[in-house]
Amino acid sequence: MKKTMLALAAASLFSAGSALAADPVAGKTKFETCLGCHGTSKWVNTYPTYLVPKLAGQHADYLVAALKAYRDGTRTHATMRANAGSLTDEDIADIAAFLSELKP
Ligand code: HEC
Repeated sequence: MKKTMLALAAASLFSAGSALAADPVAGKTKFETCLGCHGTSKWVNTYPTYLVPKLAGQHADYLVAALKAYRDGTRTHATMRANAGSLTDEDIADIAAFLSELKP
């Protein structure tokens, strides 16, 4: 019985720890809501027509900093503030991990 409890405790410790590591697979799913603007082949939003920045292959650290800046209001772009506003630190890390692994 004691052994089982220990194993369970160890397992939950492990999963809590791994949840903090950036997960590009989760990031792919989390990025789906962003694809409408950032997923186009020529980095042009379809309607209204305007350019969006290329994110594929961008450094994860840069993406994390950019998304946190939108979230905390340091960057003031209204659309991106709305999109980044509800992301958690984990969401941001996952999305950055996913994007930084893409080929530009
Ligand atoms: C409605 C269109 C739209 C949606 C949806 C959108 N974005 Fe953006 N995004 C933009 C535009 C436009 C910019 C450029 C903003 C600026 O000039 O600061 C931008 C900028 C960014 C940047 C900064 C890039 C750089 O080079 O500095 C990141 C990172 C980013 N978006 C990530 C995301 C993520 C992650 C999501 C989904 C949670 C998302 N965006 C959803 C339009 C959008």
